[in-house]
Amino acid sequence: MCGIVGLLSDGPAASRIVEALTRLEYRGYDSAGIALVEDGVISRQRRPGKIIALRETLDADPISGSAGVGHTRWATHGAPTETNAHPHATARVAVAHNGIIENFQSLKDSVIAQGADYASETDSEVIAHLIDLKLQSGRSPEDAVRATLSELEGAYAIACVFADDDDLMIAARKGSPLAVGIGPKEAYIGSDAIALSGFTEEITFLEDGDMAILNRGALRLTDVSGAAVTRPTLVLAQRDVAVSKGSHRHFMHKEICEQPDAVERTLHQIIDIHRKKIVLPDLDGVDIAAANALLIACGTAHYAGRIAEYWLEQYARVAVETDIASEFRYRQPVVQPDAFSVFVSQSGETADTIAAMRFAREGGYRTLGVVNVPQSTIWREADARLPTLAGPEIGVASTKAFTAQLCVLACLAVAMGRARGVLSEKDEKKLVNALLNTPALIAKALDTEPDIEKIATTVAGARQAIYIGRGPHYPLALEGALKLKEITYIHAEACAAGELKHGPIALIDETTPVVAVAPYDALFDKTFSNMQEVSARGGKIILITDKKGAKASGDLATHCIEMPECDPFTAPILYAVPLQLLAYLTAVRKGTDVDQPRNLAKSVTVE
Ligand code: M6R
Repeated sequence: MCGIVGLLSDGPAASRIVEALTRLEYRGYDSAGIALVEDGVISRQRRPGKIIALRETLDADPISGSAGVGHTRWATHGAPTETNAHPHATARVAVAHNGIIENFQSLKDSVIAQGADYASETDSEVIAHLIDLKLQSGRSPEDAVRATLSELEGAYAIACVFADDDDLMIAARKGSPLAVGIGPKEAYIGSDAIALSGFTEEITFLEDGDMAILNRGALRLTDVSGAAVTRPTLVLAQRDVAVSKGSHRHFMHKEICEQPDAVERTLHQIIDIHRKKIVLPDLDGVDIAAANALLIACGTAHYAGRIAEYWLEQYARVAVETDIASEFRYRQPVVQPDAFSVFVSQSGETADTIAAMRFAREGGYRTLGVVNVPQSTIWREADARLPTLAGPEIGVASTKAFTAQLCVLACLAVAMGRARGVLSEKDEKKLVNALLNTPALIAKALDTEPDIEKIATTVAGARQAIYIGRGPHYPLALEGALKLKEITYIHAEACAAGELKHGPIALIDETTPVVAVAPYDALFDKTFSNMQEVSARGGKIILITDKKGAKASGDLATHCIEMPECDPFTAPILYAVPLQLLAYLTAVRKGTDVDQPRNLAKSVTVE
């Protein structure tokens, strides 16, 4: 969602701020803007739409200054117009904000009553006016910001620059991520490490309640009361922040193709490859032998949890509860603090997942975060963490993070099975071997791209698609349908294959492709019967299976995508790949904005 950049530069700041905003594009946004300070004056340029529009405006009508803030806005309060775009500014202060100010209406009424000229429909503008009024009454910028923060309810990350001091930026965080850094003659603010990657590798992540006061070459951190706080400065590895498409047309394609490496890296951190054993780090009180497990996440990460539910039941005989983070917290769940509770997130910044994790911790759960972004909020706040080592995922549609999440969760299922005495050492070896074979199998699965490209032509012409699967391939079908919806805008619905005849079969006609995810396993025959029901009604089947499944299905399917043979345990990891490619190639065919699909944000930092 919204991205923030702040820069006290050693030279002109405009192009560097815009460059940093470009690195934040992946978060999803619908307008962009910058504000610069020079000679006591704040100038702004803002544009609806993409950063390219802002660049063009700046080329035609440049603004100058060496201190400034920039913002990419994902609209919440008010349409994505120029007036609603950030930064919001008065004569004295410019502010970029990420989050939602829940009490903005009463604050807005109050600042208007005090003479503020409120221009936008946003909640964020109120912050600029509140600070401005306090500056007018003679407070210092630091005091003015601190007093303003005490009036705000809701979530925020903010970055401010001041007309009267072009060597000062103030940043603050409560609920929305923010990082800061300094160079010898510069200072930086960014929503994440990727924003700051062009400026510095030495990054300090703010914690909730922190304020950062930055001058060129100097950084001071305080809490809301003004007391000094210290936070670690981390040197981030290039791999954690590098963002480039390489030779690929889209980040999503690059990320799909990176899966053999991402999966291998992730597995090798928790598998002793010589002894064929899962070796977990210390999980700080999270009980690996628990009889119950709780898996909470959103979107694709939730589907990874739903697949893991099958593994945990089958291989560890654990009673599992999976839920969507935004539901879990509000449904008054029966608390089982001794459950093995896992919160899965690529970004580690999903507001719903963070809130659910905090809720669980308050209920006495020990929490384990399965997270891709190092030092993100879930990473830092969970009692223990297991990283997915997928590297930065830029495409809004999650791909390599999903398969990496599956790998970690599969390893957890095996580790729990061992800890609970359900799996023998021999079973563990067999399952670990299957996991270790996955990177090579994914590499083979990627070879099906040319075949899938032909099928994508058919799907691109459809108005809707249905996905079916059984066992763990049912939640995988949900994930496949989500991928298609997100980037092609084709309506897609997934159902458990056995459930088709209880309703969704009414949707079947000759124009509706039905994607059946069905390796030749113990449930193949059942799914095959469901495919016959589809075929009898004129439905066109796209079957994703293996050699035996292809043979057994004869010519029932209109298209067949053949996966390499694999252990049934790891099939959901492998079968994710053709589903991703089908969505991707269909989107390319349709010409949609694959990496930044409409209305979507990469990291959903509001509830
Ligand atoms: O960063 P997270 O894994 O917590 O994000 C959760 C969802 O927002 C995310 O998986 C979303 O569904 C993706 N766009 C799916 O491709």
